[in-house]
Amino acid sequence: AHRFTSAAAAQSAAIKRVTVVGGGQMGAGIAQVSATFEHPVTLVDVSQEALDRGKQYMGKSLARVAKKKYPEDPKVAQEWVDAVLGRIEPTTNLAEGVRKADLVVEAIVENIGVKQRLFGDIAAGAPEQSVLASNTSSLPIGRIAEQLNGTRRQNMVGLHFFNPVPQMKLVEVVKANETSEDTVARALEFVKSIGKAPAVCKDTPGFIVNRLLLPYMMEAIRLLERDVAEARDIDTAMKLGAGYPMGPFELCDYVGLDTIKFIVDGWYKDGEGLQGNNLFAASKKLDELVAAGHLGVKSGRGFYDYSKK
Ligand code: 3HC
Repeated sequence: AHRFTSAAAAQSAAIKRVTVVGGGQMGAGIAQVSATFEHPVTLVDVSQEALDRGKQYMGKSLARVAKKKYPEDPKVAQEWVDAVLGRIEPTTNLAEGVRKADLVVEAIVENIGVKQRLFGDIAAGAPEQSVLASNTSSLPIGRIAEQLNGTRRQNMVGLHFFNPVPQMKLVEVVKANETSEDTVARALEFVKSIGKAPAVCKDTPGFIVNRLLLPYMMEAIRLLERDVAEARDIDTAMKLGAGYPMGPFELCDYVGLDTIKFIVDGWYKDGEGLQGNNLFAASKKLDELVAAGHLGVKSGRGFYDYSKK
């Protein structure tokens, strides 16, 4: 009877119900992993087509996991996939989708205005004590939350997942200036509940991983521009000489060249502490590829050609 007698007790409740907004690669991955670890999940997107696409990503990825989990028994494997998908409720109704959420994770387009508006709508519908999280990789959490009220800003945190979400063990837990310790504690507990390892970080451009990865990728592109070596040789060098699972060009193509360009251009222009930093200056080679629509694996061509595979 005394469980929820104070706001503090209610606030510290563990995260159970998860709502993911955005059914793209990242959002679908977050929904999938949450459901795999027994959380009831709601997946919100703007159209039925987007939700269907998200379900397709999840089905494919889950089939891969299931095949390893039940190698001898395709029927049991399929039942497991269906059970996980059964914990994910798709909807195009945001207000309804966030109404009972303990945690809302946003994984939509990297546009500050669009995200701010979305969080305004989320705040209008989600319970006051719910944790609000963004999966942004390049925008400040504090800015995304700046138009929300004080309680909401304290409940706001970054939860940054990595591609492919079901496979990559890390989630960066990003503390904005106003994020409360209670929110961080609940976020950490959630991350562990879905089998991931957290790394806590302040709200600075690129957090930890991308702040180190983007300079590395850009420097690799500049090696290529200076004709020091071919892409294939640079990739081989970093895989076999530094133990990276992918070389920098394979990784650029995997992440998407448009995404990389968007991040470095944004930081060069107005990333806190990074404006005008040469590490993030435009690269002619990258700009040309993006302008030609060669965005990496997803478009069939980037630094490498994938069209024949
Ligand atoms: N769903 C489920 N499982 C998947 C998967 C997916 N989408 N993709 C890969 N896997 C699993 C495979 O089933 C396999 O599992 P197993 O080892 O248990 O058998 C394992 O991952 C390895 O896959 P593969 O054998 O097919 O291929 P690789 O060994 O080449 O691994 C990779 C693929 C995991 C993608 C690996 O190359 C890798 O770790 N690459 C680096 C990825 C990386 O750096 N990501 C971060 C990008 S930056 C980012 O996301 C931030 C953003 O903000 C820009």
